[in-house]
Amino acid sequence: MPYFNGRFIERIVVLTGAGISAESGVPTFRDADGLWEKHDPMTIATPEAFQRDPALVYRFYNARRSKLAEVSPNSAHESLARLQREFAGDVFLVTQNVDDLHERGGSGQVCHMHGELLALLCTKCGHGDYTHEDFDASSRCPGCGSTGTLRPDIVWFGEFPYHMDEIEARLGGCELFIAIGTSGQVYPAAGFVRLALARGATTVEINRELSDVTGLFHHQRRGLATVEVAALVEELLAY
Ligand code: OAD
Ligand code: ZN
Repeated sequence: MPYFNGRFIERIVVLTGAGISAESGVPTFRDADGLWEKHDPMTIATPEAFQRDPALVYRFYNARRSKLAEVSPNSAHESLARLQREFAGDVFLVTQNVDDLHERGGSGQVCHMHGELLALLCTKCGHGDYTHEDFDASSRCPGCGSTGTLRPDIVWFGEFPYHMDEIEARLGGCELFIAIGTSGQVYPAAGFVRLALARGATTVEINRELSDVTGLFHHQRRGLATVEVAALVEELLAY
């Protein structure tokens, strides 16, 4: 029977952020040397930025997409995949990350609330597709054949994250909520801990440092994701 801290756990929700992929060599956003230190997100990660300078936005995401080929999942991704496979209850994984390291780490279910680097979207016909290739304003939509209508399928600032109904339903029905490697600065994800608490769930944060919402968690595990996630998963599978 799955227990955590003496409590029976049937349903777990795990939220991950850039910190879980940091040790794979994917830069985070807000740490020193992070992506938003080198670039102003308002000139890249907004619909207005894309209208103003699409070439810059395509270049930024093409570069990040091609970098995916150089990185591999780490033991934190792999441990979560093992939890999803072996836990006797339900484990719902929601990530703010747009990389594919959870999938490559073996996770069968991954909810990408901020979209995916490997996904494109046609703003004209709504066609969605996966690609490892660069694309830009000269690329043709595989759905309607138009050019100049494809955008990275990434949720930008000012846009509404994907799958919110399902995520809120899962948070409203879990006994354990685990947040890993996220700064707690971007909503709605930063508010998930409050939804889990309102439901009476136990909450655990894994982070190398304090986040903006650290104080809301029952348990805080300060350390590297590769170490702390593996240890927590061992505990959860030990019963
Ligand atoms: P941030 O860059 O804001 O935060 C990364 C967090 O990971 C920080 O709290 C770090 O302390 C922690 N961290 C870094 N390395 C770690 C490690 N090895 N082990 C454990 N923790 C570590 O990234 P997010 O919170 O994911 O949105 O950012 C949220 C959203 O803001 C992103 O999804 C992105 C960005 O704008 C979009 O692109 C739509
Ligand atoms: Zn189209």
